[in-house]
Amino acid sequence: MNYLNKKTVEDIDVAGKKVLVRCDFNVPFDAEGNISDPKRIDEALKTIRYLVDHKAKVILCSHLGRPKGEFNMKYSLAPVAAYLSKALGQEVKMAKDVIGESAKSIAASLQDGEVELIENVRFHKEEEKNDPAFAKELASMAEIYVNDAFGTAHRAHASTAGVADYLPAVCGYLIQKEIKYLGSAINNPVRPFTAILGGAKVADKLTVISNLLEKVDTLIIGGGMAYTFLKAEGNEIGKSLCDDSKIDYCKEMMEKAKAKGVKLMLPVDTACVKEFPNPIDAEVETTVVPVDQIPADMEGCDIGPKTMELFADAIKSSKTVVWNGPMGVFENPTLAAGTLAVAKAMAESEAVTVIGGGDSAAAVEKLGFADKMTHISTGGGASLEFLEGRELPGIACLNEKDA
Ligand code: 3PG
Repeated sequence: MNYLNKKTVEDIDVAGKKVLVRCDFNVPFDAEGNISDPKRIDEALKTIRYLVDHKAKVILCSHLGRPKGEFNMKYSLAPVAAYLSKALGQEVKMAKDVIGESAKSIAASLQDGEVELIENVRFHKEEEKNDPAFAKELASMAEIYVNDAFGTAHRAHASTAGVADYLPAVCGYLIQKEIKYLGSAINNPVRPFTAILGGAKVADKLTVISNLLEKVDTLIIGGGMAYTFLKAEGNEIGKSLCDDSKIDYCKEMMEKAKAKGVKLMLPVDTACVKEFPNPIDAEVETTVVPVDQIPADMEGCDIGPKTMELFADAIKSSKTVVWNGPMGVFENPTLAAGTLAVAKAMAESEAVTVIGGGDSAAAVEKLGFADKMTHISTGGGASLEFLEGRELPGIACLNEKDA
């Protein structure tokens, strides 16, 4: 999928028009109820400001969490409206409902350049079902649809895809940016091209491993999923994470790498623990061993120092690097060493560096390397599906430039 030909906000006249903008304001909150990471809201500002500056009447919508089709004020978008009002320097009018009296009357009275935020679209069960009648109701409030919710672009829901059946549909700057960086890394990379995959389970990355083997020069596998590959190679892995049902799949992928001439790199040493830390950030004692000597009563929880060096060298000799998934239990200061080493090598490299969303993005932010990367995706599931080569319904539904 390259999606490079999709219409953007700049391809339509928005002045005086009601514009429904789907954003991904699904942001995390701390224990006190404050937004703890506003990145997704900040990334939506460029599109919102453009629409305000070009005198559109802006109707924002998003989901937050998974309220399962019921009004539940725990998932209200009101804190997002407050954050946006400050960031934009103008009031963002918060509606009390989604397609009800409040949302519609505010929308109808918007002046040019004014902004409304309607309530969480997932307060209606029809949203996730992509119910046409619900999509039509949403669309009825506006004359143009802008999708800028990259993080939700892998969902075929009413507000992410259905509304495009009823309105001219274009993308915002965030989706455009995600397409540019993820798309060119995958479809048109400057070589050598290295992808790094981590995370706990092989099962979560089946399609992405197979698809990346078609594209990359080097595929690095770390994190919990590496132990299933190490077992498939014939190593004893002690109490390390293992997906026994995927051993044959790992063997098949190692064969595929050979056949395609792709260098598949696995850890050569690992940091093991006797007991998995509980709580996850508790102090922990580690023993570093080569991967063919993991003790039966220990669990590998991070890559070891030799592996860090090998992976860093591979990163430094690449021109494009895409990374998805941590190398170890990065929430623990001791077991974050491998993830830190990869983040540092990427930060220091001259390559185009693209971070898939979710855990790897959180790790890069937490470790302080965010501003050293070419692009950090705002999509967790969405960036993974992009790397898998799957169609993203929230982008596929948008109008083509030459249509
Ligand atoms: C995300 O956080 O990945 C997106 O906002 C999508 O949320 P969802 O997995 O609940 O659809």
